[in-house]
Amino acid sequence: MRSTLQERVAFGSKEGPSAPTKQPGTTNRTLLHQQQLHPPSALQLKMSTPLFDPTLISSEVASSLPDGYSIRPACKSDYSQFLDVLRVLTTVGDISEADWAERYDWMAARKDEYFIICITDDKEKVVGVGSLIIEKKFLRNLGIVGHIEDIAVSKDQQGKKLGLKIIHALDHIAEKVGCYKAILDCSEKNQGFYEKCGYKHAGVQMAHYYEKK
Ligand code: ACO
Repeated sequence: MRSTLQERVAFGSKEGPSAPTKQPGTTNRTLLHQQQLHPPSALQLKMSTPLFDPTLISSEVASSLPDGYSIRPACKSDYSQFLDVLRVLTTVGDISEADWAERYDWMAARKDEYFIICITDDKEKVVGVGSLIIEKKFLRNLGIVGHIEDIAVSKDQQGKKLGLKIIHALDHIAEKVGCYKAILDCSEKNQGFYEKCGYKHAGVQMAHYYEKK
């Protein structure tokens, strides 16, 4: 299921294959030559290996993004850009790259449980993120529920329908992996956004926060 760097960069963008970044005046032939001379190292490949199968990303959502924008699974190399986007949502804390890598590997090892996506802009900068976490149940004939979590769009990119695309992409994955529903918690101020995404108010959120001992 894991894809190579070449497969990944060809995915989820309106423009198709894009790596390595093409400098002005560079032809496709010179790019190919450069790739042959400098093939990605094992570390580069490992850092750019997507968290999950990129074919789960909706091609409809990918093709509806603004020009130059792409949507793809999160990669280990997204470290600082990913966390920066998440900071528009809440406190992220001081997470080292090693801490990030450890948590990323933990999630990656739980195949088919963590679906974390990124939208990148025309400079390949991460500008939007979102997560779908899968819960397998006994009830409803071994039903599967998707939990939508940690949706965030960079402040300067809000209002371009990127949040909507993230939710549509996560809904698509949830359906593909067999969820009978997806649920989420949000503040009242975001209720209108989720309604625009097709979600309905259902139930009451309860929380019990535990003090760290
Ligand atoms: N209330 C009502 N409507 C809204 C809101 C809102 N807070 N935000 C956006 N909308 C509307 C837009 O006007 C648009 O409507 P339209 O189709 O009629 O034009 C539609 O929802 C889609 O909006 P987008 O442009 O896709 O929204 P954006 O890309 O700005 O993303 C988001 C919305 C994710 C809430 C963004 O503002 C953000 O990152 N906020 C800070 C972090 C945050 O609060 N995240 C949600 C946490 S809840 C969770 O993670 C489960």
